[in-house]
Amino acid sequence: MLNIEGMINMDFLELAKKRYSVRKYQSKKVEKDKLLKILEAGRVAPTGCNNQPFKLIVVQEEEGLEKIKKAANIFGAPLAIIVCGDHNAVWKRPFDGKNILDIDVSIVTDHMMLQATELGLGSVWICYFKPDVIKAEFNLPDHIEPINILAIGYADGEAASPDRHEKLRRPLSELVSYESL
Ligand SMILES: Cc1cc2nc3c(=O)[nH]c(=O)nc-3n(C[C@H](O)[C@H](O)[C@H](O)COP(=O)(O)O)c2cc1C
Repeated sequence: MLNIEGMINMDFLELAKKRYSVRKYQSKKVEKDKLLKILEAGRVAPTGCNNQPFKLIVVQEEEGLEKIKKAANIFGAPLAIIVCGDHNAVWKRPFDGKNILDIDVSIVTDHMMLQATELGLGSVWICYFKPDVIKAEFNLPDHIEPINILAIGYADGEAASPDRHEKLRRPLSELVSYESL
């Protein structure tokens, strides 16, 4: 559907299917207003007990990007957000002590990733990094854990097809059961 500005209005599932992991980026910087919108999407994400146990380290300058590159491949993205969890602020389930920090931080990451997609930006979620190197390079205190890195920028190359999930995802029949496993 086209709105008055001629922009394409995507429904949520269309947006979710359009997103793909971008592993090649143009050198073009991400505009400040787009970055702020991405951060705002993270800010409003739900967290357990609304504890908001996260810190977002935005890295766009060459010096910071070089530091990240010591710990991870960010595929030449001009922007990376290190999504950190705060172990001092997280909610823990009283029955078994389960720490939900990874869940909270990942919801924040997912909100930002999908907002980036909606803004026409590419992204890739990165967990394959050396956490000790990130902690040392960014002087993180012990209670702040880098959990995800979200690399963002303008994709270079052809977009993955939104129809790829037909083959690349398991069917609902394998994933879902009703009323019991
Ligand atoms: C929690 C998580 C961690 C990931 N870590 C990495 C990573 O370290 N490096 C990478 O290239 N891709 C990483 N990915 C991207 C996945 O490989 C990718 O999402 C998956 O293969 C599906 O492909 P698509 O994103 O193109 O649909 C990660 C994705 C998630 C959700």
